[in-house]
Amino acid sequence: MGRSYLAVRMRIRRHKVFLLCLLGICVISFLHYYKALHNILLLQELSAPSTHLKSLKILINDIFWNFPTADFHPQQDLHKHSHLKVSVDLDVILPDPSDRKIHERTFVLRDDPSVFFIHTKSGAVCFGEGTDMTASASHRRLLQHHREISPKDKAINADKKVVQCPCRQGWHGPHCGIPTIVYHSNLPFKSKVTPRKVPRRVINAININHEFDLLHARFHELGDVVDVFLVCESNFTAYGESRALLFREQIVNGTFDYIKHKILYIFLDHFPDGGRADGWIVDDYLRTYLTKNGMSRLEGLKADDVFLINDADEIPARDGILFLKLYDGWREPVGIHMRKSLYGFYWRQFGTLNVLSACTAAMLFKVYKGDGIYLRRRSYYSMSGFREYENSTGRILMPWAIGSPVHYAGWHCSWCFKPEGIYYKLISAQNGDFPRWGDYSEKRKMSYIKKLIQTGGWFDGSAPKYPPSNPKEHMYAPKFLLDNYEKYRHLLENPYATEK
Ligand SMILES: *[C@@H]1O[C@H](CO)[C@@H](O)[C@H](O)[C@H]1NC(C)=O
Ligand SMILES: *[C@@H]1O[C@H](CO)[C@@H](O)[C@H](O)[C@H]1NC(C)=O
Ligand SMILES: *[C@@H]1O[C@H](CO)[C@@H](O)[C@H](O)[C@H]1NC(C)=O
Repeated sequence: MGRSYLAVRMRIRRHKVFLLCLLGICVISFLHYYKALHNILLLQELSAPSTHLKSLKILINDIFWNFPTADFHPQQDLHKHSHLKVSVDLDVILPDPSDRKIHERTFVLRDDPSVFFIHTKSGAVCFGEGTDMTASASHRRLLQHHREISPKDKAINADKKVVQCPCRQGWHGPHCGIPTIVYHSNLPFKSKVTPRKVPRRVINAININHEFDLLHARFHELGDVVDVFLVCESNFTAYGESRALLFREQIVNGTFDYIKHKILYIFLDHFPDGGRADGWIVDDYLRTYLTKNGMSRLEGLKADDVFLINDADEIPARDGILFLKLYDGWREPVGIHMRKSLYGFYWRQFGTLNVLSACTAAMLFKVYKGDGIYLRRRSYYSMSGFREYENSTGRILMPWAIGSPVHYAGWHCSWCFKPEGIYYKLISAQNGDFPRWGDYSEKRKMSYIKKLIQTGGWFDGSAPKYPPSNPKEHMYAPKFLLDNYEKYRHLLENPYATEK
């Protein structure tokens, strides 16, 4: 009897163990099922059509990013719609209720309401453009990703609710918002950069003479990333002679209607003292006036907005500037490695041109005295406000540059005009950069200029060696020019290559 009792107890115990095991298996398979469901949801969110995304965006706007809603900005609203009001005389259009002239208007900076990051239910914050939205591809990558992670990491990740986004080619980081040109740059602590809740505003300042092909290329390259373009034009050439306000004419005649709502026009109506004798004074003064006049006419500037100053022939690649706009944790001042070319993109020169071009508005005013010319010089550490500003930021200021000597983050295209444009640049060049080729009549001859374009030669008689280039190569030229190949063929192919 004792034996059979024991046997029964043992059988019951075995049943218990069996039931426990069964329960355990149930729990484990449920967890697996849950995980799969979770991934499917993530995939669905990522691959959802735009209407779905729209509702998601609203959700993000309201909950995640917590944007201020429905603020009333009368001036800004007018700005926003000003491109709809087609009018011949710009001075009569209304972006500014006080009816000021276009070179006296102000521009109200406002947070960009675009949604750049998608906040998925699974806890991932993915940069929309850099994330692979196609279900099959992301599924594959997710699986791959899960396989790569050890069980221990998995547990940690589950705790922290970190779900990585499947990045498209050319994008990196847990949120897929770091473009290759930043990923391969010398930015220190790359893993410490984080997406911002509200994007920075980007201010791009340039002086314009007659670089209109490159100006269209700039506006198309940066139009959706830059919040305002400060564009300065003078009725004096850098040499001190009178010039027509060609840019203003084109704003008025509708040539720039596609971007007019983002342009703040700056008019330099005088020539700096001593500029005729020493052209370098003009060179500096153009940047000083551009920055001081332009920045003083912005309303709502924030300390962490980005100030980006370029020459008209320097075009930063969009993705690098977008990174500055969307991320925290980068260092300043910021340089840009640009592909160098002469007369057109076909004469590519070796190496890159790295120009310090960007910093925050805070650094512009606290270190560079609100003057863009100081930013472009490399001696920021000798500026009087440097240490104090560095101290206030709580970290070491150090320059870095978007791109690298082998990753172009923009284009520098010198003397990129048709022959007439080169002629015009020769005669209007400042009086200080000697020899001043415009002073030599034989160098101004159209036949001579065409020969230079044909051979890639320089005015001093030298003919440097150029590495081969091909319009199909990566970063050959700004996308807008390539997309309008026929119109801009003179910049993309040597126009005289076949001539003897
Ligand atoms: C430029 O414009 C200013 C203001 O209208 C005028 O006083 C000046 O004479 C102009 N300069 C030239 C060279 O046209
Ligand atoms: C506007 O003016 C520019 C230069 O003055 C000219 O080349 C262009 O054809 C004009 N465009 C229109 C639409 O009138
Ligand atoms: C740096 O900032 C701290 C306070 O944040 C201040 O006590 C110190 O004097 C500052 N140093 C310099 C060199 O400005």
